[in-house]
Amino acid sequence: MAESFDVKLEDTEYTPDSSYLKESWIGDYQTAYQRFLDDPDAFWADIAGELEWFRPWDRVKDWKHPYAQWFVNGKLNITHNCLDRHVTSANRNKVALIWRGEEEGDERVITYRQLYRAVLRFGNALKKLGVKKGDTICLYMPLVPEQVIAILACARIGAIHSIVYGGFGASALNARIRDAKAKIVITADVGNRRGKRVPLKSIVDEAVVNAPSVERIIVLRRTKPQLELYSEMELDFHEIMENVEPVCEPEVMDAEDPLFILYTSGTTGPPKGIVHTCGGYMVGTYYTTKYVFDVKEHDVLWCTADPGWITGHSYIVYGPLAAGATVLITESVLDYPDPGVWWRIIEDFGVTIFYTAPTAIRMFMKFGDEWPSRYKLDSLRIIGSVGEPLNPEAFEWYYRLIGKSTCPVIDTWWQTETGMVMVTTLVGDTMKPGFAGKPIPGVVTDVVDKEGNPVPPKIGGLLVIKEPWPAMMRTVYNNDERYREYWNTINTYYTAGDLAVKDEDGYIMVLGRADDIIIVAGHNLGTAEVESALVSHEAVAEAAVIGKPDVVKGQAVKAFVILKLGYTASEKLKSDLTYHVRMSLGPIAMPSEIDFVPSLPKTRSGKIMRRVLKAQEMGIDPGDISTLEE
Ligand code: WT7
Repeated sequence: MAESFDVKLEDTEYTPDSSYLKESWIGDYQTAYQRFLDDPDAFWADIAGELEWFRPWDRVKDWKHPYAQWFVNGKLNITHNCLDRHVTSANRNKVALIWRGEEEGDERVITYRQLYRAVLRFGNALKKLGVKKGDTICLYMPLVPEQVIAILACARIGAIHSIVYGGFGASALNARIRDAKAKIVITADVGNRRGKRVPLKSIVDEAVVNAPSVERIIVLRRTKPQLELYSEMELDFHEIMENVEPVCEPEVMDAEDPLFILYTSGTTGPPKGIVHTCGGYMVGTYYTTKYVFDVKEHDVLWCTADPGWITGHSYIVYGPLAAGATVLITESVLDYPDPGVWWRIIEDFGVTIFYTAPTAIRMFMKFGDEWPSRYKLDSLRIIGSVGEPLNPEAFEWYYRLIGKSTCPVIDTWWQTETGMVMVTTLVGDTMKPGFAGKPIPGVVTDVVDKEGNPVPPKIGGLLVIKEPWPAMMRTVYNNDERYREYWNTINTYYTAGDLAVKDEDGYIMVLGRADDIIIVAGHNLGTAEVESALVSHEAVAEAAVIGKPDVVKGQAVKAFVILKLGYTASEKLKSDLTYHVRMSLGPIAMPSEIDFVPSLPKTRSGKIMRRVLKAQEMGIDPGDISTLEE
């Protein structure tokens, strides 16, 4: 990890019209932050008090480093706050979900009451299958309303969901099902992508071999003629909802009961199952949806992520529904049938808050200004970004062409582990392109050196979080030691694993990962998982992968491969290996370049020094290589 280093910063600034600040929920940053500092527990208690609890908490938090409990002994069900709270109020007939398929006109609009009824039925169907509080259920679904229904139904009955993004391949899915010991897998026959059908169910068929925990597979059948369900194990999504009671009382959950597991990459070993709990996560996502995205009564919120990532968990499902917002979801990718489709969606549905990723913004820049210019985007009020650094060029384009130089751009920094947005520029505040912004009220961050000493402004260092927050992960599933590492690597702080720099005003610019995690188009990939997919090919003896800068995707996967004796390098073998990775981990993990090499740089203890490969690749100084073996 880097110690500290100089960074050149730009000094452009934009301040939104003062009405934004005046009308925002959060109000003035300094005042809100001071209110938090004056009494952190009272600050969080006020927010938690905006939601409904079956039993109030005894204490806001218990903190015994590195373990936190939030809203101790509080009882709740997050779906009560996402659904019941609204169907018993004026929101009953408000639109909760708008879904748009890949085709124009392929739409579904679901009110809070309709969503509520579907969730209760599906919850009862799961109970009828024997699902109990604490059981794990794996979701591997396309972006359709049934995914949201299934997620909420799990939460309703206290089952722990583990959502696996539909773009992952069979071996990635298998690893996640096995680690979580999922009892049920919920999937669909197909997902739609660019006019093609992705055969999700057949990927599940492959993934459940050697996954003995799986008792049932629930299949949403979307195509006609219907896919045949062959074994006793397989059930139809809608059929099981038919003959059940319409009433399903929410399971009374302790604030610290787990709500879900979500896998994210690690630099070594298998992916980490990040565990989030009911109470703190609910409060954190509700708080940030309301006070960071500034959601108001008539907003239509479109977060372009998939519920398979934390962004979707927090800002498609739980946060917005807890806040009673109207949420847009779509199966449509950004350039099919043409690169205007997303702007058309904004115009058609009057989207007011749009939240996407820098990689998407850079793709749009490449397609040309004429695409957004053809549509009316004046419904937009706030535009946001997440997943990787929003470089100043992309910021400028986004701000001018999409935000028409009036919408605040909220570049939000956070992680699967943090559960909620941690650093951003609040609506109405001065924005600095390239900088995410400041820690939001409730969050304490800093940029430090390896020992934990704050580094001066304009000097790069490591981004840490100094105090616990409600939506923080509670552990890594089956691997508490890995959890403790987050809080024990730099002083007693939470280590984010990112390099960052602050300016004199305390604005934070996130520079990228300090470790071997590769972020491709906003998707977090562990070098370990990609390398082990490569090594599982018969021709490969050893492999190392690095992230190589890519103008659109942020980073691209480059692989270095040592072949086994008897195999020779060829273009054909390269494409075989690429296909092999695609089939096991999914398209996002596909290497864009493969080099066949006779050896790899290693430490004396045998660890691959990816940093050396990276430096070589980019023609820069690899730094300290005294531990290098050859
Ligand atoms: C990593 C976390 C949180 C949802 C999406 C990714 C990078 C995230 C930003 C940002 C610069 C960012 C970091 C972080 N990242 N947001 N606004 N600016 N970098 O969640 O898969 O857990 O990845 O994404 O490197 O550590 P994730």
